[in-house]
Amino acid sequence: MAVLEIRNLCKSFGGIVVADQIDLDLKAHGVLGLIGPNGAGKTSLFNLICGVVPPDAGSITLDGLSMEGQPIHERARLGLARTWQTLRLFPSLSVIDNLMLGPRDYSADRLIDVFLRPTYIAQREREARQRAEYILERTGLIAIKDSPVMDITYGQQKLVGVARALMNEARCLLLDEPMAGVEGQTYALIQKVVRDLAESGVAICVVEHNVAFIKDLCDEGVFMFAGKVLARGSVDQLIADPHLTELYFGT
Ligand SMILES: Nc1ncnc2c1ncn2[C@@H]1O[C@H](COP(=O)(O)OP(=O)(O)OP(=O)(O)O)[C@@H](O)[C@H]1O
Ligand SMILES: [Mg+2]
Repeated sequence: MAVLEIRNLCKSFGGIVVADQIDLDLKAHGVLGLIGPNGAGKTSLFNLICGVVPPDAGSITLDGLSMEGQPIHERARLGLARTWQTLRLFPSLSVIDNLMLGPRDYSADRLIDVFLRPTYIAQREREARQRAEYILERTGLIAIKDSPVMDITYGQQKLVGVARALMNEARCLLLDEPMAGVEGQTYALIQKVVRDLAESGVAICVVEHNVAFIKDLCDEGVFMFAGKVLARGSVDQLIADPHLTELYFGT
């Protein structure tokens, strides 16, 4: 069974169709590349999956569980993780604090406990810090955990975005242009982190304009245009298709 199943997903903003009867499966251990020109609806698809915007029609299930009506934080708790095309980090806070402020399983937290059960809150805080340190180890960021985010490189900031998305145990990870503006060492590091996550069983979908990265990383790709999934196949197949390249680059 697929980890994430999307059926007949539809969404329009006024006259703009961003999702047009989308069917898509993401499988455990797989990395699916999502490509298509600007405005194709790639980020919108992630927003629909995560519950940032509600669909007009269609269904999304995670491990067989319907996401209909589930708010963003509940989807995160159930294992849906994503990064943002723009960074959305807190620049003056340290790397580790950015992780600790990321999406987490807050289901057991109640404000009243801050006053009534301070040791319990301290314990939850300790667990979050341990989890953050574990993630920072895995993503190669542990050496800079106390640096303010504004003092690290842009590539490292992108990686912090990925690390933050992993604070809950991710079943499905959506990466929105993780490589835009990234080069050198960090490029290889992000590649490795994504591969390791896929190997550990996470179902991953990557939006990228960097076709070389997609080709390196993804078992398969889908091509989106005007809210439609037009083709699914190997990345080589997709980029060799003259109709798709024409849509991608325009004529
Ligand atoms: N909340 C919204 N309200 C109105 N229009 C929106 C909204 N979100 C997205 N759109 C529009 O939907 C279309 C698809 O946008 P989307 O961000 O999904 O494209 P994309 O494929 O991610 O493009 P890019 O490669 O440039 O990131 C665009 O025309 C965009 O302006
Ligand atoms: Mg986008």
